[in-house]
Amino acid sequence: MIILERADEPGGPERGIVDDSVEVTRDRAWETLTRHTQSEALRRHALAVEASVGWYARHLGEDEELWRATALLHDFDYEIHPTLDQHPQDGAPMLRDEGWPEELVEAVLSHAEHLAMPRDTPLKKTLFACDELSGFVHACGLVRPTGLEGLEPKSVKKKLKQPSFAAGVHRDEVYAGAELLGLELDDHIRNVVEAMQPIAGELGLRTAADAA
Ligand SMILES: [Fe+2]
Ligand SMILES: [Fe+2]
Repeated sequence: MIILERADEPGGPERGIVDDSVEVTRDRAWETLTRHTQSEALRRHALAVEASVGWYARHLGEDEELWRATALLHDFDYEIHPTLDQHPQDGAPMLRDEGWPEELVEAVLSHAEHLAMPRDTPLKKTLFACDELSGFVHACGLVRPTGLEGLEPKSVKKKLKQPSFAAGVHRDEVYAGAELLGLELDDHIRNVVEAMQPIAGELGLRTAADAA
């Protein structure tokens, strides 16, 4: 945000606010993501988290474009910064340079446990709560002949207790996320499954129609 003196306005100098942030849309975020991320797995992870965070935005009456854009961009620099001494902190200045607003950049930074930033807004809480669980639900869907259809919280929770299944997913962050949202884990799982179902095809998941 920059403040300009407008001397050329009729009626003399006037203070005008010119916002140099880009317009926040999920399509622009997708463009930024795919410019920096070639990996299909990373793009699918972004889409899965976007679906979940977008679901919550809609149900909470929040700014869905902002929330979706933030979710799409939360790991945008992972391909170029694959280690925690760089991701996501070295990506943040790149987002600022591209004109993404501070609210989005701060939320992106807050998803990283190692930065220990406060998750003090609904967007930050939701992004954190959806990141690991969307990945885990995605993994559950990949091993089922009908993908996400009929996937119950009970079976997701059973798999959470098997350390070898989707071993990269931090279980403690899944549990902490539901708590941060003030939801029972069952409800959070049900919401995330419902959120991801419409984009099952884009996520490389089978559907009941494929299984038939
Ligand atoms: Fe990340
Ligand atoms: Fe992520």
